[in-house]
Amino acid sequence: MISKNNLVENICCVGAGYVGGPTMAVIADKCPEIKVSVVDINEERIKAWNDDNLDNLPIYEPGLVEVVKRSRNRNLFFTSDVDNCIKNADMVFISVNTPIKSAGLGALQASDLKWVEVCARRIGAISKGHTIVVEKSTLPVRTAEIIKEILEATTKSAKKNGEEKTFSVLSNPEFLAEGTAVNDLFNPDRVLIGGEDEVAIEKLKSIYLKWVPNKKILCTSLWSSELSKLTANAFLAQRISSINSVSAICEATGANIQEVAKAVGLDSRIGNKFLNAGPGFGGSCFKKDILNLVYLCRYFDLDEVADYWEQIVHINNWQQNRIYEKIVDKLFRNLSGKKIAILGFAFKANTNDTRESPAIQIASNLLEEGSILQIHDPKVSWDQIFNSLSTYYETNKLDKSNINNWTLENSVESAVNNADAVLILTEWDIYRDINWEKISNSMREPSWVFDTRLITDPRKVRDAGLNLWRLGEMESCKDGTFGLS
Ligand code: UDX
Ligand code: UDX
Repeated sequence: MISKNNLVENICCVGAGYVGGPTMAVIADKCPEIKVSVVDINEERIKAWNDDNLDNLPIYEPGLVEVVKRSRNRNLFFTSDVDNCIKNADMVFISVNTPIKSAGLGALQASDLKWVEVCARRIGAISKGHTIVVEKSTLPVRTAEIIKEILEATTKSAKKNGEEKTFSVLSNPEFLAEGTAVNDLFNPDRVLIGGEDEVAIEKLKSIYLKWVPNKKILCTSLWSSELSKLTANAFLAQRISSINSVSAICEATGANIQEVAKAVGLDSRIGNKFLNAGPGFGGSCFKKDILNLVYLCRYFDLDEVADYWEQIVHINNWQQNRIYEKIVDKLFRNLSGKKIAILGFAFKANTNDTRESPAIQIASNLLEEGSILQIHDPKVSWDQIFNSLSTYYETNKLDKSNINNWTLENSVESAVNNADAVLILTEWDIYRDINWEKISNSMREPSWVFDTRLITDPRKVRDAGLNLWRLGEMESCKDGTFGLS
């Protein structure tokens, strides 16, 4: 609905997830004059966003509680009343999930756009007057075209009934990273707005201008905006697969991955970010976006380009697999009945998100070998682990006989009790300060520590009498620090 003063007064965001929730909370915080309603078909999620106890918000993000506290029920509302919110909004953000298709054309590569389409149809059916529709979810290139077609069809049928209903479609991809989402939203490197309708672009821009400098707001065509988001994620993932591939070379040659990363990153043309070797990238975006890019390339007969990007996902799987193989190898190629403490199940620190976490594949492989997993994570729930493992087993058609051989422990101490090995998969701060001397007393000998995030102090671990394997370091390297400062 067009507002009287031609400014955005009423925003509706469909999807109260990791993107929609924090993004709208920050917009509401910075623009108290705008009413921001976040809607979701998942009533439990909405209930959690409205919980009096802010510790129960459905998403854990440092700083989020404070932002929500300032604006919730002032100009930020979480509700399941999807239709009413869409009807009253002059700007609707689409922030629904777009998982990889599990079946049909493009299965395991293309994004499933079913929710985006449902959302576009609902907006078409319910909205009044002129509505600006903003793609927030990361979507395959030219999805805006699909949204436009759906909306234009409703414009035509509304006209037949004597009703005026028009739309402008913009792409405004979100670049926030989980764990630092609030800071990323307050201080973005850039805000990208893609579209053709100058007036709509200016309206969206005026929202961001409340806290983002003009020079950081980039306006492009719709297709450039959509492709930029996929490309940014592909480049970031490429850096991780590159450094992970080098971690294996380090292990073979005696070079040290942290030294190499530091030396390489000091080149200002390369930069020092995203050069931490680890168990492989996880999260809802990287794999999905690269596979989308691969699908797009194959569609346009760009097979060499598709092969190039696909290799990044291949190396990522290989990295996870080789960590699991290393554990099997060190534990005498027999994991049957052996207890392994898994420290960290989230795909990175400071989030409770487990989507595509390397822990899922590695834990499943270890379970298949007959080990018993004692898992600890400060923010991940039992249900999340159960659902993640079940989905992985089903997708990969694995034999489920060992799928329940794990427990979620509420402390590092109970996780390591009687364990043959400790496997660090997430770089939570609490794992940096583990008292290895104490831990070693409760483990079964010979005991191993596998550090895939390079957060242990090698001397302390070895002084406690534990065997240590660190990613990207040759095993004969006993102190592991190599004079890094
Ligand atoms: C992200 C991003 O938006 C997307 O760019 C990325 O590619 C993957 O998913 P995210 O916020 O992380 O979304 O996903 P999620 O936490 O699953 O939240 C999406 C929400 O949309 C869910 O709560 C779901 O219930 C809701 N939804 C989905 C609706 O409200 N309506 C629908 O029709 C479909
Ligand atoms: C990513 C993008 O960074 C963000 O811009 C986009 O909007 C969504 O996708 P996110 O997946 O939340 O964000 O987290 P990110 O910090 O990028 O980490 C992704 C994965 O890469 C994690 O599993 C992380 O542990 C891993 N990673 C990251 C490394 O292994 N090494 C690094 O140096 C950086």
